[in-house]
Amino acid sequence: MNAESIETKLLKVNAAKPEAEKIAVAAEILRQGGVVAFPTETVYGLGADALNPAAVAKIFTAKGRPGDNPLIVHVADIAEVGKLVSSISPVACTMMRTFWPGPLTLILPRREIVPDAVTAGLETVAIRMPDHPVALALIRAAGVPVAAPSANLSGKPSPTRAIHVQVDLMGKVDAIIDGGDTGIGVESTVLDMTAERPLILRPGGLTLERLQMVLPEVGLDPGIMVAQEETSVLARSPGVKYKHYAPQAEVLVVEGEAERQPETIRRLAEDAEAKGKRVGIIATEENAYRYGNRQVIVSGSRREPLTIAHNLFSIFREMDAEGKDMIIAEGIDDKDLGMAVMNRLRKASGFRIVKVH
Ligand code: TXA
Ligand code: MG
Repeated sequence: MNAESIETKLLKVNAAKPEAEKIAVAAEILRQGGVVAFPTETVYGLGADALNPAAVAKIFTAKGRPGDNPLIVHVADIAEVGKLVSSISPVACTMMRTFWPGPLTLILPRREIVPDAVTAGLETVAIRMPDHPVALALIRAAGVPVAAPSANLSGKPSPTRAIHVQVDLMGKVDAIIDGGDTGIGVESTVLDMTAERPLILRPGGLTLERLQMVLPEVGLDPGIMVAQEETSVLARSPGVKYKHYAPQAEVLVVEGEAERQPETIRRLAEDAEAKGKRVGIIATEENAYRYGNRQVIVSGSRREPLTIAHNLFSIFREMDAEGKDMIIAEGIDDKDLGMAVMNRLRKASGFRIVKVH
């Protein structure tokens, strides 16, 4: 890309009570067709006016994102959804009322008004209402729906801190709003409401268990936990087919009996190191002491998958910065937020999974 570097405004705000003047600056940029990175409760997003195709195009340029990967439209009010979609089923309505604002993205039938640049030409549009004071204030002040993918360079881990956005997008976007660390740390759950049976296309911040309480019939897209090459299922969510969340290093995931993972990981690490590779290990709190003198990065406790989700992408970036050639990660239970964590880990590994018995 030979795009000239542009001046990126850095706006540091109070995350709980964002200063109106600073939000107004960012909102004006959005109204003028510019692009602004902002925090949400999941990860940082890179926003543009969703109804302005030229503005939306800038998102793809800044990220280096393939044009056939559609964007999520962010709203600050359920009432805005009616302008973007052709129909809302009673079930979809219940989902919004129950889980919004929050880490749930709904796939709904789109109206013509939503540009092809947003939907990648699909007949559906992804919509969510983020649960973050800064994101909500920005959308309200802009007065337009805000299309926003995660604010990383395409192929890099999603940003959970403003510094991650700066590293990836400084000079490529009009402004970055720094609202501190994002809470959840993995992206929203994407739920297709246009299929006969509501289907999770991407596990994320809203857990399957919580969804099932309101929507017992919810299904999991078969493409979620297996490598795309291993499944005959056509990727329903276009983004799913790309190698996502990938750090520079090659990633290996070790799954199975928790207590026995460190032994296998140590052996894999020694083998790789014998070949001259620099290896980083992502361990859980429970197992950290099982690595002897070896340095590991602790992602959190197995009893608190939220902590692990919160730290995961940041650890990927840290390992890249340290120049690791290989990352070996302990697997955790697929329960609760563990499902999203394992989905991101397995995808980052290109489904190179080692099972211990
Ligand atoms: O938490 C999140 O969802 C963050 C924050 C910024 O909101 N956003 C995010 O956006 O993760 P992105 O672009 O990185 O991921 C959006 C996912 C992609 O997998 C994309 O393919 C899928 O949603 N998607 C978007 N529109 C779709 C549609 N109409 N049908 C099916 N999948 C869609
Ligand atoms: Mg993304």
